[in-house]
Formats: sequence, C-alpha cells, structure tokens
Amino acid sequence: MTIIQDFLPDTLFAGKTVFVTGGGSGINLGVARNFAALGANVAICGRTQEKLDAAAGELRELNAHVAGSRVLPVAADVRDYAAMESALARTRDEVGAVDVMVAGAAGNFLCPAEQLSSNGFRTVVEIDLLGAFHASRVAFEQLKSTRGVLIYITAPQSFVPQAFQVHVGAAKAGIDMLMKNLALEWGPHGIRANGISPGPIAGTEGMKRLSNEQADQQAKAAIPLRGYGSVNDIGQAAVFLASPLATYITGTVLSVDGGLSLIGSALWNEQVRQMAGKPRG
Ligand code: COA
Ligand code: NAP
Repeated sequence: MTIIQDFLPDTLFAGKTVFVTGGGSGINLGVARNFAALGANVAICGRTQEKLDAAAGELRELNAHVAGSRVLPVAADVRDYAAMESALARTRDEVGAVDVMVAGAAGNFLCPAEQLSSNGFRTVVEIDLLGAFHASRVAFEQLKSTRGVLIYITAPQSFVPQAFQVHVGAAKAGIDMLMKNLALEWGPHGIRANGISPGPIAGTEGMKRLSNEQADQQAKAAIPLRGYGSVNDIGQAAVFLASPLATYITGTVLSVDGGLSLIGSALWNEQVRQMAGKPRG
C-alpha cells in the first residue's frame, strides 16, 4: 500500500503529529498513509465522520509499529473557523502539538463560467482557499511551538487556465499566494510553507469528476511521463517537504504531475474539452 518505509526509516516521524484536512479519502488519505507508515501520529478532518473513522482504522494499522502512536478522526468543515479551532485543540490535547499541517480539503466540479452561479464559485473558493487559511491560522501557535511545516495541496489549474475550472483556478491560485505570504511572514518562527501541485492522480474523486475511462487513455498519452500518478506519489512528496531533507525549502510549489504543466495550455485544454465530452464546436 505504501512503499516509503522501504526507503526511509519507519520511525522518521515517530512522536510527530501530522494534521490533514480532507484526510478521509483520495490524495489526502494517501498523504496521511505515508506519514503514518513512517510512525507519525495523524489527525484527519472532513465533513463525514464515518468516512474518517474508516480511514482512521487503516492509519492505525500503519503506525502501530510505534508504541503509543495515535490517530484522531475529527469531523470539521474547513469553512467553519470555530469547528477548526476545536479540531486543532483536540489534536493538541489528545495527540500532541501539530508538526505538519496539510491543507488538502477541496471541492471541484466542471462548469462553464457562464453557467456558474455566484454560490457555486463562492463554495469552491470557501472550501479550498478560506479553508486553507483557516487550517493555517488555527495551527499557527502549535506550528510556532514545534517549528513546524505547512503543506498545501494545490493544482496545475492555479497557473494554467483550464476550461470549466474558473472557480478552481481562482481558489488554487489564491492558495499558492497564501502559501508564499505565510512562508515569508512565518519563516522567522521556523515555520516552512510549500505547495504540492498534483497532476491527474488515478482512482481519485477529482479525476472521476473531470474525466472518464475512454478519455483517460488519450490524456495519459499526452502527458510527458505517459500516465497518471498515484496517491503515493503525492504522499512521498509531502513526506520529503516535511522531512529533515527539506529544511531550507520554503515558499515553493512542487509539481508532481508527470510533466503535465510543461504542455501548452491550448493543447491541454483541447484534451480537457474531450475528457469533459464538450469538444470545441
Ligand atoms: N455544476 C454547477 N454548479 C454546481 C455543481 C455543478 N456540478 N455542483 C454544485 N454546484 C453549485 C450548486 O448549484 C450551489 O449553487 P446554487 O446555490 O447557486 O445552486 C453551490 O454549487 C453549492 O452547492 P452545494 O451542493 O450546496 O455545496 P456543498 O457545500 O454541499 O458541496 C461541492 C460542495 C459542490 C464542491 C460538492 O461537490 C462537494 O462536496 N465536493 C467535495 C468532494 C470533491 O469535490 N472532490 C474533488 C476534489 S478535487
Ligand atoms: P477527494 O477524495 O474528494 O478529497 C477531498 C476531501 O476533502 C474529501 O475527503 C472531502 O471529505 C474533504 N472535504 C470536502 N469539503 C470539505 C469541507 N468543507 N471541510 C472539510 N473537508 C472537506 O478528492 P481528491 O481528488 O483526492 O482531491 C484531494 C486534493 O487534491 C484536493 O485538494 C484537490 O484539489 C487536489 N488535486 C487532485 C487532483 C486529482 O487528480 N484528483 C489533481 C490535482 C489536485 P468530505 O466530503 O467527507 O468532507
């Protein structure tokens, strides 16, 4: 399930606490798994307690090799500041002060800009961007005490405009700038902040919403490394950014996308339109 323990000591994060927003599924759960496999305590939040509880069972098996390791599944909507405050307070009290905050909760759907409602735009900006600010702001005191790390899960849409993704592009571009500002302001406290920009990741909710099986074949052929990534590819990158191997890295976005962002915007957008079943007329 994870291979990172074959390459790094499985106690690298023993005694450290990693909080992952949206950690109950997909890429974010993949990130949580990779930290747990290296012995971290993990707290995950999302809106659905049952989903979090199922993910927590898996994570407990992964960090069980470290005596006293913990996993906390705590329901909280990232748009709700008070709920996030209470989730972080529980994490500090029951698990330990946060060393790594991963802001990964997001919402996405395809919608042509001229059909998108004000509330549709607001909803995605609030989950992705406001949610990332809330995660950072509520974790600040804990991260200051641990000289911790912020990691934001952004997307190629933040710097390559993509059809039917005006809401996501705006939200993710905002996250990239939020990350850079916090890297600048909080660097003197020893807090590092970086983003990871995943390309298309196989088997995720995000890709289910953006593509279909037939279009996937064409899309894979268009990517320089010829294929989709895995949730472990993103988890491994997150571990690297949080590890002692990256102590002088802050304010950057690491693309983990098989070279997708090297493709011209126009060419990729023809592909996106095909995937969405809406070729240019
Ligand atoms: N096309 C256009 N507009 C859409 C839409 C779609 N497919 N899905 C939702 N919206 C609009 C709604 O119509 C509503 O706007 P309105 O009040 O003007 O009608 C607005 O978005 C909010 O919808 P709602 O369902 O109330 O939001 P929510 O907070 O319950 O859910 C979403 C958030 C819409 C992002 C939902 O898809 C979600 O929960 N996503 C999480 C999982 C996910 O997206 N994973 C992929 C991550 S990359
Ligand atoms: P996912 O499984 O749907 O992950 C999103 C998670 O966020 C879910 O667990 C969801 O759980 C949670 N969430 C949604 N709204 C929330 C809210 N208001 N408060 C708290 N949690 C909330 O989708 P994914 O595809 O793996 O995406 C994960 C991240 O990767 C996102 O940031 C996405 O933008 C990014 N990304 C994905 C891809 C890809 O190929 N999939 C590519 C680039 C970037 P609940 O619904 O239970 O709350």
